[in-house]
Amino acid sequence: MKTSTLIAVAVATLMSTVSAIAQTGTAAPAVSANDPRAMVNQFEATTGKFEGYRRSGAKGICATGEFVGTADARGLSIASVFRGQAVPVVVRFSVGGSNPKAPDNTKSQRNLALQFNLPAGEQWIMGNISAPVFGSATPRQLMDGLIARQPDPATKVADPVKVKAFTDANPETLLQARHYASQPVPASFGSVNYWGVHAFGFVNASGAKQFGKWIFEPVGGLQGLSDDEAKAKGATFLFDDLRQRVKDGKVAFNFNLELAQAGDKIDNATVPLPEGRKKVNMGLLKITAVSEDSSGPCLTINFNPMVMPKGVEASADPMLPARAAPYAISLGRRLVEGAKQQ
Ligand code: HEM
Repeated sequence: MKTSTLIAVAVATLMSTVSAIAQTGTAAPAVSANDPRAMVNQFEATTGKFEGYRRSGAKGICATGEFVGTADARGLSIASVFRGQAVPVVVRFSVGGSNPKAPDNTKSQRNLALQFNLPAGEQWIMGNISAPVFGSATPRQLMDGLIARQPDPATKVADPVKVKAFTDANPETLLQARHYASQPVPASFGSVNYWGVHAFGFVNASGAKQFGKWIFEPVGGLQGLSDDEAKAKGATFLFDDLRQRVKDGKVAFNFNLELAQAGDKIDNATVPLPEGRKKVNMGLLKITAVSEDSSGPCLTINFNPMVMPKGVEASADPMLPARAAPYAISLGRRLVEGAKQQ
């Protein structure tokens, strides 16, 4: 290419950039929150990149279990999962965040991810967390929160001014962390509540759709550690604790659905249903075996919550479909890097 042509191309490129900046009014166009690669890149930039591990919920363990649905559940949904026969479930318990060495003895997130393997090749997949709400209402808000918390290359920590500006403008994003701070350190993966946080619709034989939000509640009750007990337990006790409790037959959860009423907000994962909504027991999940090591059937699953059986439907919560593609991107990256979880 002649020099004069090169200059012309360079000037044209610059002019189109200038014109884009003029149109958006910002020097750096916002990173798209709908681009799953950009979202996973931002997780890595803000929370760290740990090759081979899930970009969220990195430290985890596989287990298996079975689920039996109740007659009340059959009244709400035709889904085969509720028929009353035991359904096999692939389970993954994990500690929140991208760090595979995240300590077990802090007031942070625990996760319960499930894949129900149903008759006729159907599946139901979900990833539940130990808080009644999530920390973002929309993918845009999640992306902006991650950008605000990205460590400054010079100081290696987030700029408190940017973080404050973000949280002042988005106060609901603090509710999830406040929940963890208000609770004791969970004594076990088997002794804490796990919420679905999104609303889902349950469709029965007459075609009626009931929206609700679910909670997995430990049959043996909640059990937390005092600060001294947590310190004494150290940073790695959850996996051995789980193996022991499951050997003793002590890990089971009631799958309870809180029923939404007309006017309740059901499209926002930062807003729980109002207190006192009717709760229906939909079934019992029993954990029957835990992996002895870091392997197991959960390792290569990305728990995409958009996989539902006939009789269960997504709500209009924008965070729900937005999870599917980033989970697939994260899976692709960690498989290429050599999948690990401990
Ligand atoms: C657009 C919103 C979200 C994005 C981009 C996102 C991103 C991710 C990514 C990349 C993973 C790792 C996937 C893998 O490698 O298999 C993950 C795992 C997980 N996420 Fe999210 N997440 C979002 C929303 C949520 C919400 C609302 C919840 C609340 C229930 C949630 C709960 C979980 C859980 C429990 C896991 C771990 C599942 C497992 O054991 O593999 N996420 N998330």
